[in-house]
Amino acid sequence: MTAPLIFLALLAAAGGLHAQTSAPAAAAMGSAEAYDVSRLPDDPYGRLVRYGKELTDRTFAYIGPEVKNEKMRFSGNNLACASCHEASATKKFAIPWVGAHATFPQYRAREDEVSTLQERVNGCMERSMAGKALPLDSREMKAFITYMHFLSKDVPVGGKVEGQGLPPFKAPDRRADTVAGSTVYQEKCASCHGAEGAGVRAGAPGSATGYTFPPLWGKDSFNNGAGMSRLLFASSFIKTNMPLGTQHGQPQLSDDQAYDVAAFVLSKPRPVKAHTERDFPARWNKPVDAPFPPYVDGAPADQHQFGPFGPLQENMKSLKASLTKATVK
Ligand code: HEC
Ligand code: HEC
Repeated sequence: MTAPLIFLALLAAAGGLHAQTSAPAAAAMGSAEAYDVSRLPDDPYGRLVRYGKELTDRTFAYIGPEVKNEKMRFSGNNLACASCHEASATKKFAIPWVGAHATFPQYRAREDEVSTLQERVNGCMERSMAGKALPLDSREMKAFITYMHFLSKDVPVGGKVEGQGLPPFKAPDRRADTVAGSTVYQEKCASCHGAEGAGVRAGAPGSATGYTFPPLWGKDSFNNGAGMSRLLFASSFIKTNMPLGTQHGQPQLSDDQAYDVAAFVLSKPRPVKAHTERDFPARWNKPVDAPFPPYVDGAPADQHQFGPFGPLQENMKSLKASLTKATVK
């Protein structure tokens, strides 16, 4: 077998495993067939749902930085939404979109306002995809929202679904150790994501074909304003979902390993988002692991990036108490 074929065989094997081990998860969120877009009729709704799923899996091919039509270059990197929202955004505890349509509009601390699902999509466009917002009336925005609507069809408005978001991560009570993290990385991640974190491209650079294994840092990665740039989020995602095929409740990494390897990945250079200081305008709402200024608690930037987070969380509680008191007239 040639190298790419072996890769494909491995991926197929991982996919098979995935389908088996995630069967109980699928039952809780709805059966796998429930998300089979090919069963929808060939009508306007069905076509939009199918396009939405296609955009999720192959974002780079439609709105990536290498697509022919320059006007369609909305993403700044060649990731797919499904690089993080795994299994076409249906995998439990990998930030699935199942239920997302039923839980928005919702209050969001980053904006300190009630945001729509469209605004949330554009949050990831500007951060995870290091790009720019999709116009609200674009076919692409409509397709994403319609796909989310389809995935949420069994969830009542305002309803909760087990497996939404990422599980909370209990960080070790210490600064993360990027040197230990580098060892974990070489042993457990580099075989797919590359020794230099650049991933493995599916085709030639410029071909808008994305990645077989996505990059974790460097110019084609998510930017510093992304949720994945927060150490507690990244630790949780990695512990729950990586190496590829890992399922919630059966982690392959300890908390210490996940924390350290996430810190190692986040210590590397990546695109920088403009105007991150506008995020979390209500400063007491700012998560302690948001790795950009201003830091109103006076703690050093290094601690906000690498911990220990326990003391920062305690600080934030008292800051919130004093700030909210001061603004209530
Ligand atoms: C680099 C990883 C990454 C990529 C790529 C990514 N996202 Fe996200 N996304 C996240 C994280 C992390 C969160 C949760 C962040 C939070 O709650 O603040 C999230 C949350 C969301 C949510 C809210 C889900 C919920 O249940 O509240 C939506 C909708 C979303 N992303 C859409 C998209 C779309 C559309 C794309 C592709 C255009 C995309 N994302 C690409 C990491 C990513
Ligand atoms: C067997 C190959 C493989 C291994 C090993 C692996 N990953 Fe991944 N990783 C992937 C693939 C493929 C994706 C895209 C998501 C998918 O296809 O489900 C991904 C996605 C990610 C993402 C989100 C997308 C992005 O580009 O930022 C992060 C973060 C990540 N992996 C970190 C790690 C870390 C850290 C390790 C080591 C502990 C690791 N991975 C090990 C294959 C792998």
